[in-house]
Amino acid sequence: MVSEISFGAWAIGGAWGQVPEKDALAALHQAVDAGVNFIDTADVYGDGRSERLIADLKRERKEEIIVATKAGRRLPRQTIEGYTRENLASWIEDSLRNLATDTLDLLQLHCPPTELYSRPEVFAILDDFVRAGKIRYYGVSVEKVEEALRAIEHPNVQTVQIIFNCFRQRPADLFFARARQRQVGILARVPLASGMLTGKLRPDSTFAADDHRNFNRHGEAFDVGETFSGVDYRLGLEAVEEIRRLLPVGTSMSQFALRWILMFDAVSCAIPGGKRPEQVAENCRASDLPPLTPEAMAEVERIYKQKISPQVHHRW
Ligand SMILES: NC(=O)c1ccc[n+]([C@@H]2O[C@H](COP(=O)([O-])OP(=O)(O)OC[C@H]3O[C@@H](n4cnc5c(N)ncnc54)[C@H](OP(=O)(O)O)[C@@H]3O)[C@@H](O)[C@H]2O)c1
Repeated sequence: MVSEISFGAWAIGGAWGQVPEKDALAALHQAVDAGVNFIDTADVYGDGRSERLIADLKRERKEEIIVATKAGRRLPRQTIEGYTRENLASWIEDSLRNLATDTLDLLQLHCPPTELYSRPEVFAILDDFVRAGKIRYYGVSVEKVEEALRAIEHPNVQTVQIIFNCFRQRPADLFFARARQRQVGILARVPLASGMLTGKLRPDSTFAADDHRNFNRHGEAFDVGETFSGVDYRLGLEAVEEIRRLLPVGTSMSQFALRWILMFDAVSCAIPGGKRPEQVAENCRASDLPPLTPEAMAEVERIYKQKISPQVHHRW
């Protein structure tokens, strides 16, 4: 049982500009204060920094905190040959050390190559790590709906992490129903479209050189879909202005965007990133909002279909 608004710990690790350790820890503590019991991270976020901060948090809190981490992105190139028992064992040991634990709660393969989903032997290796007590459960983080559908054919895949937000609606078409049938948990990642769905960005907003919203705007470093959900910046801002008209009085854009995700029962949790406690507190309050109206849901769908879908629907 995880909090429906949980916490994504990429930005406090790296690739989002500088986040001082003090702010990162305060953001994590705020999440727990607001009832978050689940945190998503990865071995590569700040080369272990994100995992180590979570270990610090766990030392300072009594509450149960479930941590999902990821493995696979330490490979220099994403090829199926890299997913060996030896590599997986060494990534798992690094995460165990960083997180200061004996067992990983949930290990996700971190957007592996599509071919991996037709390699049951890799999942058999993960089963061995479960039996050995190194990991409690495993799942996958995927780029495409097709990968998600294939992933859940492997019987012990417990969770799928996928981009799902007002700008990425395709997972709801077919995948959510299948995942529910198989009782697979869904982590909705990039729920704020890298901050665009907070409504704060402007045509002239700038980002630090080490922020992926600067250096990966066109997919230079990793899948372009991870940055603003792959939506052209100007077009995204236009769509945001249309969504802004739907906000109930007293509801922020971030909260509306997160509440939209929670309208889909198949979603176990959304994992918004947050760099400061104020952001985290605001995001967690999305849980307290009443359901969005059918009219608002229909409008978000219309905006998506008219503006966003031609750029993203066929790609992810
Ligand atoms: N391949 C993968 O598996 C993968 C890829 C991407 C993400 N993820 C996971 O998904 C999580 C969430 O995705 P994400 O972090 O990429 O994007 P996101 O959650 O859509 O956006 C997070 C960013 O939006 C801004 N923000 C958040 N709340 C705000 C608020 N209330 N008001 C104003 N600004 C706010 C912050 O950045 P600024 O303040 O700098 O604007 C924050 O870092 C990640 O942390 C990570 O755990 C996994």
